Formats: sequence, C-alpha cells, structure tokens
Amino acid sequence: MASARNRDQAGTSVPVALATPTVPPRTAATETSARLAQPEASASAITADFDRQPIRDLRKHLATDPDAAMEYLFARLFAAHPGLRGLFPHGMTQTRAAVFNELAGIIAGLDDQERTEQALARLAVDHRKFGVKDKHYEPFFEAMFVTAQDAAGPAWTVEMAAAWRSALDWFSSVMTAAAAAAAEEQPAWWTGEIVQHDRRTETVAVLTIRPDRPLSYVAGQYVQVQTPRWPRIWRSYSVANAPRANGLLDIHVRAVPGGLVSTALVSHCTTGDIVLLGAAGGQMRVPDDPARNLVCVAGGTGLAPLKAITEAVVGGAGQGKRRGITLYAGVRRSRDLYDLRDLETLRLAYPSLTVIPVAEDGRDFVGRVGRLPDVVRTHPSFRDCDVYIAGPVGLVTTTRRMLSRRVPSDRLHHDPIEALRQVRRPQRAGAQNKKAAGTASP
Ligand SMILES: Cc1cc2nc3c(=O)[nH]c(=O)nc-3n(C[C@H](O)[C@H](O)[C@H](O)COP(=O)(O)OP(=O)(O)OC[C@H]3O[C@@H](n4cnc5c(N)ncnc54)[C@H](O)[C@@H]3O)c2cc1C
Ligand code: HEM
Repeated sequence: MASARNRDQAGTSVPVALATPTVPPRTAATETSARLAQPEASASAITADFDRQPIRDLRKHLATDPDAAMEYLFARLFAAHPGLRGLFPHGMTQTRAAVFNELAGIIAGLDDQERTEQALARLAVDHRKFGVKDKHYEPFFEAMFVTAQDAAGPAWTVEMAAAWRSALDWFSSVMTAAAAAAAEEQPAWWTGEIVQHDRRTETVAVLTIRPDRPLSYVAGQYVQVQTPRWPRIWRSYSVANAPRANGLLDIHVRAVPGGLVSTALVSHCTTGDIVLLGAAGGQMRVPDDPARNLVCVAGGTGLAPLKAITEAVVGGAGQGKRRGITLYAGVRRSRDLYDLRDLETLRLAYPSLTVIPVAEDGRDFVGRVGRLPDVVRTHPSFRDCDVYIAGPVGLVTTTRRMLSRRVPSDRLHHDPIEALRQVRRPQRAGAQNKKAAGTASP
C-alpha cells in the first residue's frame, strides 16, 4: 500500500493513504498569498489591536448552541465552496465538536496574545496535513464571520462586526505565516512503512514505522497517523522511543471497541503496509534539571511516551549521579502487561530505573495489585521529582488531583486534558459546551 494525494471531484488536493503504489510529488512550499509576500506591510496592517469585549459576547452567543453554530459554519463554507468538502472526513460530528472547542478556547484566552499566537501557530502547522493551503483561509474565516453574525441574531452590533473581522484577519495572518514557516522546514505529512508489526496481546500491537524522510520529535511527543482503510481520519499516537539514528518510530496501539483507526492498526495492518504521519506535537518533555528524579505513571498504552522519556534519560545519562526513575506500568489484568521484556532490558542497562507493574485484577500476579492512582499514592516521596502521567483521561485527571498537594503543578506533566477528553467524547459539540466555555486557551 502507498500514500497518494487524492484529488476530489471539485479538484481539492488532500493527503490520503491509498492502496495504490504511487507516491506523489510533495513540495515543501505552500502557496503563498499576496499578503504573505509582503510581510512588513501585513505586519503593520493586521494586528491584535482590537476590542476583546464584543468577541467575548459573541462567544456566549456561539456557545448557546454550539452544534447549530458549527453546522451553520460548515453549511455556509461548503455551499459557497463545494470543493472544500473534500478536505474533510465523511462524518463531521467529531470535527464540529473539535473546531468549536478549539475556537472557544482561543477566544477565552485572547487576552494573552503570545499564548494565542502559539495556539494558532500550532493549529496551522497541524492543519498542513489536512491539505489546508493559504487559499482556504479566507473562505473559512468568511464562513466564521457569518456564523457569529447568525448566532448573535438581533444582538449583532457594528462593534461586534468590526472586532470579529479584525480578530479573524489576525488569526488568518498568524496561521498562514506559521504554516509558511513550517513549510520551509518540514513536509505537510510523511509516508511511513510499517517495518515491524508485533501483536503483543489480543488488543495491543507495537508497530515500528520507518518515515520516508526524517521526522523530528522529542521524547514524550505524539504523531498523528492515518491508515489507508480510513482516508482523512487522523488519530494521535505517542512515539514510544527516544529519537534514533535510524529514524524508526515505535507506536503502541490498543484497539478500542468499535475504534476505526486503532482497530485498523492492530488487526488489519501488517509489515510492509504504508501509513501517513503528521508532524509531532505535544508539550511533554524530558525535564531540563538533571538533579530531579522522575516518577512515571503509565496506564495501558500510556506507557509509550513514558518509555520514550525513560529511554531519553537513560541515553543522556553520563557517568556521574544518575537520575532515579520509577515507572509504574498499570493495566487491568496482568496479561495486559505487553512490554515487560523491553522494560527489563532497559532496567538492566540503567540500574537507577525501577519498574513497578500494577494490575487491578491481581489473580496469579506477583506485582502490585490495585488501581494505579492508589498504588502511586503510596510512592515514598515526590520530593525533587518530575511526575509524568499518560493514559486514559480518567487516569490522568484522577492521578493529577491525587498528587495536587504533593507535587507543584509545574512538575506534573501530561498531554492536554482537552485532547484526551476528545478521545472518549466525540459525540456532540453541545455536550462539551459548558466545559469549553470555561476553558482557557489550549
Ligand atoms: C495526545 C494523545 C496521544 C495518544 N496516544 C495513544 C497511544 O500511544 N496509543 C493508543 O492506543 N492511543 C493513543 N491515543 C488515542 C488515539 O488517538 C485514538 O483516540 C484511539 O486509538 C481511538 O481511535 P479510533 O479511531 O480507533 O476510535 P474512534 O473511531 O475514534 O472511536 C470509536 C469509539 O470508541 C470510543 N473510544 C475511543 N477511545 C476509547 C478508549 N480509549 N476506550 C474506550 N472507548 C474508546 C469512542 O468514544 C467511540 O465511541 C492518544 C490520544 C491522544 C489525544
Ligand atoms: C481559528 C481557525 C480554526 C480552528 C479553531 C480550527 C480548529 C480545528 C480543529 C480543532 C480540528 C480538529 C483537529 C484534529 O482532529 O487534529 C480541525 C480540523 C480541520 N480543519 Fe480546522 N480550524 C481552523 C481553521 C481551519 C481552516 C482555515 C481550514 C481550511 C479549510 C480548516 C480545515 C480543517 C480540516 C480540513 C480539518 C480536518 C477535519 C478532520 O479530519 O476531522 N480549519 N480544525
């Protein structure tokens, strides 16, 4: 299987993993708009200098019925530009919820200009793999403009119109500039060959993937993956190894019941198959301070990023004092412990690593028995430690809450809760409305 750009009927070019052997040409440069061609002029014309209050008011109107607002947005977008429909997946429920939540978060955080710019830039870099180009921004933001107008109804004012227009111009300029900068450095997506597919349990597989060109990341980050079986559907998977000289990436995938991409990766992919990969993202990092020890709390395949972080610390260790690492690897049943052999190899190479397997159901099990947060609670000391938590959102929030009095928040590391929540609750944008309305910028 190979990847190809897919040309939909209306002529929009999108990255889609196909079962054909053609690998398409892929240029690094994006189409650069006239505005971007004159960065100085654009910088003076488009600024973040606009009134925030009318936009906060608009957010309330949009949040009254996010489902309806997002349906309106995409209806207006696709009615005016039918060609853009081809960029999006067939089922849009998850997309609508994600776009609303992201937008609500951005508006909520507008007062912090630097953080908003970072969020917009991350979004733009991430959007390159969807096939989004400069020319798509104007139609999208035009649809956003009329969506807010529709949501506000009779409450729409001249001040709202002016502020929303300025905000959208600013969003667009930050995003197009970030996408153009990213295009100088890396492709919009990579093809990756599965060079090893190791089915460890009924539901978990460890895949080793060779990207077609260097894909840079740091230990703790995740990449997005698309399979030929589900064109245009991308899911995040943490890279399970520290960067290697040969560029190979491991991912640990658990097939969730009814899950599209996870089931495809675990049960329908094999050695030699091709997947598409998006740029690495995520804020988890190996801590800079070499004096601090690490406590890693991994639920299920949450082991992946924490194994990468452990490998990075082990690989970077010099001859002096070694950082202590305690890795709790939790599962429901002991037979779900799919990576103990590799962890034992790591432990032999680095005696300052302690691996503690934990199973909820303790039958025939010699390790620790209990719920992972309860076992972690008994950890002797968190003094001078960085704590990393990865796994299902419930584990992350429970462990975080449990440790909140014992570990300063800047030493508690995990993937964004909002992104993890999205994994389990994609059904309706409205279901997340209240939550998102009170959420700061991502
Ligand atoms: C930052 C980040 C890193 C991630 N890293 C990994 C990783 O290293 N390994 C890994 O296996 N997954 C990881 N995930 C989850 C992964 O991205 C997918 O969400 C997961 O594989 C399900 O995708 P799917 O397409 O198979 O399921 P979908 O088709 O999206 O979902 C199908 C159904 O399953 C439900 N569902 C979704 N997830 C779960 C779940 N966990 N348990 C039970 N039901 C569920 C959905 O609500 C839906 O009803 C990560 C997610 C994030 C946000
Ligand atoms: C501030 C502006 C924007 C916000 C807040 C936003 C938000 C989002 C979010 C949160 C996602 C889901 C990401 C993921 O699942 O990884 C998404 C997906 C997507 N967005 Fe945007 N977006 C914006 C601008 C645009 C623009 C200008 C386009 C151009 C048409 C666009 C097209 C897409 C496409 C094609 C997808 C993929 C849909 C999917 O696979 O579900 N977006 N957007």
